Amino acid sequence: MDEAFVRELCFGTARHALRLDHEVRRHLRQPPRKRDLDVHALLLLGAYQLGHTEVPNHAAVHATVAASAALGKGWARGLLNAVLRKLTATNLTADDAELPPAARWNHPDWLLKRLQHDWPDDWPAVVAAGNARPPMTLRSRRKRSLALTALADAGIAAHAGTLSASAIYLEAPRPVAELPGFADGDLSVQDEGAQLAAPLLGAAPGERILDACAAPGGKTLHLAQMEPAASILALDVDPRRCERVRENLVRGGATAEVRVGDGRRPGDWWDGRAFDRILLDAPCSATGILRRQPDIRLLRDASDPSELARLQGELLHRLWPLLRNGGRLLYCTCSVLGEENEDVIGTFLEQHADAACLSLDSGILQERGHPRRFGTQLLPTATEHDGFYFVLLERRQDES
Ligand SMILES: C[S@@+](CC[C@H](N)C(=O)[O-])C[C@H]1O[C@@H](n2cnc3c(N)ncnc32)[C@H](O)[C@@H]1O
Repeated sequence: MDEAFVRELCFGTARHALRLDHEVRRHLRQPPRKRDLDVHALLLLGAYQLGHTEVPNHAAVHATVAASAALGKGWARGLLNAVLRKLTATNLTADDAELPPAARWNHPDWLLKRLQHDWPDDWPAVVAAGNARPPMTLRSRRKRSLALTALADAGIAAHAGTLSASAIYLEAPRPVAELPGFADGDLSVQDEGAQLAAPLLGAAPGERILDACAAPGGKTLHLAQMEPAASILALDVDPRRCERVRENLVRGGATAEVRVGDGRRPGDWWDGRAFDRILLDAPCSATGILRRQPDIRLLRDASDPSELARLQGELLHRLWPLLRNGGRLLYCTCSVLGEENEDVIGTFLEQHADAACLSLDSGILQERGHPRRFGTQLLPTATEHDGFYFVLLERRQDES
């Protein structure tokens, strides 16, 4: 089967899963049994094709019914056929204020409540962005106008981003192998919001930099390409993801030391020499990148943000002593929840008298971001950048 089509089905079904689930269940006599969740997933895949793709209805129903055999569940043919045929007569995309909120907005209830609480004015736009198809965004290492010309010469329509000076948006996604300059690292796939991190950290030649949660290495490569004379340690707890960092660096012709290690246990991997800069792109709920990782809406639950906030706080606390006096730490997440962002920083600042919160030296971020109690939040948009939170901390002599 065509890989792009499989990807479209998986991502699309996850993106619309809550609405599709609601519509499918209206035609079930009883909720799906745990052992038959695979059949339920087939129903959602079939419903997605009916409501959101160009696949003719009869082909979508036929292929979905036939797939039950591959699951060894031929008994489900009748069920699949009956439910999907009923759904052909349903408008699966029309807005309907009568729908339960999770189905209407395609976001789980717990997340809707959080967004409405944290962003009383902006939550509808955040939700719309989370439900959108993401653009394919590139970062150009070279002068952007040269990259745009090379893309145009290759017949690839693209335009410049307005937030980051290196961002390029493709009018339609393309396999990376077709992009002129991708193989040698002149172009990388990176969201425009994510492209702000390396410039905000502001490394200088010869400095020692720790990229504490580095994998898959998008920001490590950006840092290494921006400041080749810096000495970068790229750390991540996940060995397989560390391989991705190495691959990224090789492709980009850049160097950094890549190590598998837990940021909470510097004793296992730190050589005792202080860092000038630390980038902590912390593990988070990823609620700012729902459009790129649509299954987040299914995989996360209401308890995750507070558990993640504990991990984020611990990472900050453990990494802070590795920074020299006068050194800077950029904390960022792709979460839009205050609990993982300004609240984590507020608690950290209360507990660390030698930490000061600096204002971010980026006019465009100030213009487009939302200033928080500490740091700045970029909210995701449907057609441009993801949601990101940034805060810059400086280590000062502890006078307490
Ligand atoms: C948001 S991702 C980082 C993305 C990366 N900076 C980039 O730009 O490509 C968070 C990363 O944190 C890593 N991580 C989670 N817990 C960690 C820990 N205790 N120590 C180090 N890395 C950790 C995860 O494996 C994951 O790769």
